[in-house]
Amino acid sequence: GKSGYDHYMLKEIHEQPRALRQCLRGRVDELSASVDIGDLGDLSPTGVQFVACGTSYHAALYGAQLFQAAGIPAQAFLASEYATGVPPIGDALVVGVTQSGETADTLSALREARSRGARTLAVTNVVGSTVARECDHALYIRAGPEIGVAASKTFASQLAALNLLALGTTSTDDTREVIAALRDLPGQVQSILDSSAAEAVAELYQDADAYFFIGRGQQFPVALEGALKMKEITYKHAEGFAAGELKHGPLALVTEKTPVFAVVTGDDERARKTVGNIKEVEARDAPVVAVTDGQNDAARYADEVLELPETHPRAAAVLANIHLQLVSYHTAALLGRPIDKPRNLAKSVTVE
Ligand code: M6R
Repeated sequence: GKSGYDHYMLKEIHEQPRALRQCLRGRVDELSASVDIGDLGDLSPTGVQFVACGTSYHAALYGAQLFQAAGIPAQAFLASEYATGVPPIGDALVVGVTQSGETADTLSALREARSRGARTLAVTNVVGSTVARECDHALYIRAGPEIGVAASKTFASQLAALNLLALGTTSTDDTREVIAALRDLPGQVQSILDSSAAEAVAELYQDADAYFFIGRGQQFPVALEGALKMKEITYKHAEGFAAGELKHGPLALVTEKTPVFAVVTGDDERARKTVGNIKEVEARDAPVVAVTDGQNDAARYADEVLELPETHPRAAAVLANIHLQLVSYHTAALLGRPIDKPRNLAKSVTVE
């Protein structure tokens, strides 16, 4: 059942601390700053291609960045586009990210990869799923069953699992910091669930014409995911952009009726550039909701702030997404939408 929650989606949003703990349990050792993902630790890929759809594609974009940061060439592909114009695979590892493990587009991209001689790995929630049976290897995200059509806890768990995969198969300078950030993540997710101003933000902007989401680097996939969730459950127009792309077109759509959610953490060059993008939309009178850790000037130019604790940018992506899930959820609830079963959508998409 829904354990007292109005919708499965809200229940599943609140299950995220536990889902993350389950994903990390027994796989991370903080003392030795090491990750144990069993045999997968021996994969040592020289290149990685991710294939996925929808929310899982956003996780794949994030995953590709983790490998790039470790010096391994990596790319994320929409599974349905993979067959066209794929670069040569060589001995790359092809990773299918799929919560259900039954998504036809993703299965078919993985079959294509296998037919070209690639090693394949499934990152999935479902033991015994088609993807797990067909791939050479599987990494389970252990989120527990997700009933709501909108993916919520499985996205958070995918991001955590992809961190384990990257840490377990590559070496980076900041392994210790990432492991510490992963350890803190479930508790930080809980405090966001307990204190997020998302519902108030949803009330303020429920009548908007459209919603925009911007982010850079690790926060770019979060912007895409924020927009997908918003359109899926509220039926409102929403778009996610790389912050730097705004002035290459989308800025023409920005008015006082289009709230812009800007995810910006830290105080580096990237964060400063995103703050610059926030000023651009603020100058067009768009309401700005900054999802920020207060390390930069974003809040100064924002109408509303959704607060993040200070942490590694990788973990901040998971945390920022919790606020955005809640904004979409509460907006959809205010609009009276059938949140767990949006029109025209199915939980698992088994046709191409
Ligand atoms: O089961 P999968 O992760 O392969 O599903 C992929 C997409 O169909 C899925 O993420 C979809 O975008 C969700 N409904 C988004 O909330």
